[in-house]
Amino acid sequence: MFSIILVLLTGFLTPAIAKLHVHDSTFVPDKILRITAENITHGCLSRYSVLVNGTAPGPELRFEEGQTRWIRVYNDMEDMNLTMHWHGLSIAGYPFSDGTPQASQWPIPPKYYFDYELHFQPGQAGTYFYHSHINFQAVSCSGPLIIEERTKPPYDYDEERMVYLSDVFNLTDGQIFDGLTANPFVWSGETNGVLINGKGVANTVLNGSCDLAAIAVQPGKTYRFRFIGATALSLVSLAFEGHNLSIIEADGGYTKPLHTSFMQIGPGQRFSALLTTKTCEELQDKLRYWIQLETRERPALYRGYGVLAYSDECGIQAPSTQAPSTPPLTLPNTSLGWLDYELQPLSPNLFPTLKEVTRRVTITVQQIVNGSITWTENGLSWTEAFPRMPYLVAMYEHDKNALPNYADAVANGGMDNRTRAFPAKLGEVLEIVIQNSGATNGGLDVHPFHAHGAHIWDIGSGNGSYDVQANEERLKSTNPVRRDTTMLYRYETTTTPGKDSGWRAWRLRVTEAGVWMIHCHTLQHMIMGMQTVWVFGDPSDILKLPRPRVEGYLTYGGGERPFPCAYGNATYDPKMIHWDEEL
Ligand code: C2O
Ligand code: CU
Repeated sequence: MFSIILVLLTGFLTPAIAKLHVHDSTFVPDKILRITAENITHGCLSRYSVLVNGTAPGPELRFEEGQTRWIRVYNDMEDMNLTMHWHGLSIAGYPFSDGTPQASQWPIPPKYYFDYELHFQPGQAGTYFYHSHINFQAVSCSGPLIIEERTKPPYDYDEERMVYLSDVFNLTDGQIFDGLTANPFVWSGETNGVLINGKGVANTVLNGSCDLAAIAVQPGKTYRFRFIGATALSLVSLAFEGHNLSIIEADGGYTKPLHTSFMQIGPGQRFSALLTTKTCEELQDKLRYWIQLETRERPALYRGYGVLAYSDECGIQAPSTQAPSTPPLTLPNTSLGWLDYELQPLSPNLFPTLKEVTRRVTITVQQIVNGSITWTENGLSWTEAFPRMPYLVAMYEHDKNALPNYADAVANGGMDNRTRAFPAKLGEVLEIVIQNSGATNGGLDVHPFHAHGAHIWDIGSGNGSYDVQANEERLKSTNPVRRDTTMLYRYETTTTPGKDSGWRAWRLRVTEAGVWMIHCHTLQHMIMGMQTVWVFGDPSDILKLPRPRVEGYLTYGGGERPFPCAYGNATYDPKMIHWDEEL
């Protein structure tokens, strides 16, 4: 009798559903991030901000390549959606973990949580960060994410130090979002301060007595400085008084050492550089050296400081620190094409040659000014308000109307206009050209372009229109590096409306099936439509598990209980797939 009931039960519960893991109190995530919205003072400026575990920047996360880890993200906010993105990591195979709202997942509703399963592929050791992917939240809702190698890094250094750059704005996220999407358009205002490791002085603060970031070092050592461009808007030029740097990593990939006297870091970019400190003899009587930073390409220049603070083991007294009244350093103007054609990978990286390219997709970006102000890519904007449901969900729903048509897209230069998505087949080798063009009022801007998923090979930038042959000449005797965020520059501030005015080009091997995004990382521009969605692979490549196993991922908030739902809350334990067991 009992066994008959069991047979009946197992008959009802397909084995597939039985394999979902209940994340009840016996499930212990590797990390927990609790996201709140509260008042915080940064750079002496009090502001209602989205915080991670009560702070901005959030805690540093450190993992090792090869690991698979679970990060629980609680949306403790009252009235705002949330997703968390792991910037620079390719987490192919973990399809709902990329943290892009309406692309790879439904956002986490207020008072819900979502467990992100992340896998750190071997070879990914490097510098990353995590941030919310909703509206303007990432201005404060972000933190460092470091992947260490299992063995030894390829460079020797004694210790690491962090330079985490973030913007602080007077207006709240909500005010900024409302203004940017309003007609008439209202600008967010310029940055009120660029902070180093959460410290600095906002330019609206009069007495300027707030703490500067002090980075402690000892004499005669080599440090790996990790620079993270977590700014919302600011392209930052930065240098250390009396010290040079040697770049060894860009966007999570090691490079050959490249000597530099300054850094230029756009939103979304990361670098590591070695810095050798002075010996006691070299220090003479000076224990503190300025780190000076300035914003570029904006109508207002913000200048800020941090301090490289030597320990006093050389027997010298440290002076107290106040921001200097005159800048000790002269930083260069925007260095157009900084590091392009120069940076080289530390080891060979399978750079796709022009012959291998199967398709070229040009994304022409243009600002449309007519009361409202939007950014378009090949004539259309994308924001998370556009799709009815995430593309990955649409694929499970077999909703043809919500999925890009490959033939239509190819015939239309790469984008399927109906779904505003760029589909590609696994095995294609794309050349992606991002072409800057004059706004309808003639304006031009700079854009840090970021690709989710597998890293791209950066093949440079230049003025005017992209010219394949001319660039091929320039690429001779270079070894392009793999990046995930590189700058689209402007070479003048105004031009003829619609005229090509500067380009950036990438190559990409389409290997990772999934839904990925390519977008400008300036948060204001994202809100104004400067985002694209890419669908790599056919449904058979992407949908690795059938329904009903994934059912709990397919509805906002996880759908009706008690059916298995992947989003948890105070009274409900989520039921989740462990993708590492399925691959
Ligand atoms: Cu760091 Cu889609 O972003
Ligand atoms: Cu932009």
